[in-house]
Amino acid sequence: MNIIKFETQEALNEAGSGIIVSLLQTNPRAKLGLATGGTPVGIYKKLVSACKQGTVSFGKASSFNLDEYVGLDRNHAASYYAFMQEQLLAHVDIAPERCHIPNGMAADLEAECLRYETLLEQVGQIDLQLLGLGHNGHIGFNEPDGALIRGTHVVELREQTRAANARFFDTPEQVPTKAITMGVGTILKAKMILLVVHGKDKAEIVKQALQGPITTECPASLLQTHPNVAVLLDAEAGSLLS
Ligand code: F6R
Repeated sequence: MNIIKFETQEALNEAGSGIIVSLLQTNPRAKLGLATGGTPVGIYKKLVSACKQGTVSFGKASSFNLDEYVGLDRNHAASYYAFMQEQLLAHVDIAPERCHIPNGMAADLEAECLRYETLLEQVGQIDLQLLGLGHNGHIGFNEPDGALIRGTHVVELREQTRAANARFFDTPEQVPTKAITMGVGTILKAKMILLVVHGKDKAEIVKQALQGPITTECPASLLQTHPNVAVLLDAEAGSLLS
């Protein structure tokens, strides 16, 4: 693992977006695995600027999001579909038909999981998978458990996760109880993984994930088994690392 600590958010976002820009410059057809939540927002802003300035094009790229809430219409402001449009996809030159996200409104959720996993298998390896980190060590929406499901599946969200995401909804009760997520097996298939973490409140879980035992009780610890992971941390998130 290549762990890099940054003094400022600005420097972290510059480095994170720089990695994605370089990838697209050398491989314009790159398959990008994308994340939602607060963490990638600054990186997405920089990607939008780079695209507007003509430094990079998403014209031949494709995107595959990690997860989506079950039961939220894509037009709901807190859906991950809407989030991705607002933060990145509507502002860059990516072809809408090459932007993929699970459909949390599918009548048959199991069939939707299978469709998404099959799509990922057919397109081949994701070139770069961007990840944030949950306070409990989740990646995607793979919550800590005695065992983890390899492929895309429906997951019951932990109360801690729902509480952390309540900030995107009018009331905490509106946060869905379930989501569709790529599995940890799906995530680990990516050629390169870019894990980004901010804040003091994640310092302890960063230490567990990067330097603790590899255990499904901390799904992010499985990233230690991947040969090509870059971890970008702000000074606070990295403050407990030895
Ligand atoms: C988002 C996702 C989650 C978040 C994690 C951190 O698509 O899969 O794993 O990355 O919950 O969220 P933030 O960045 O809001 O702290």
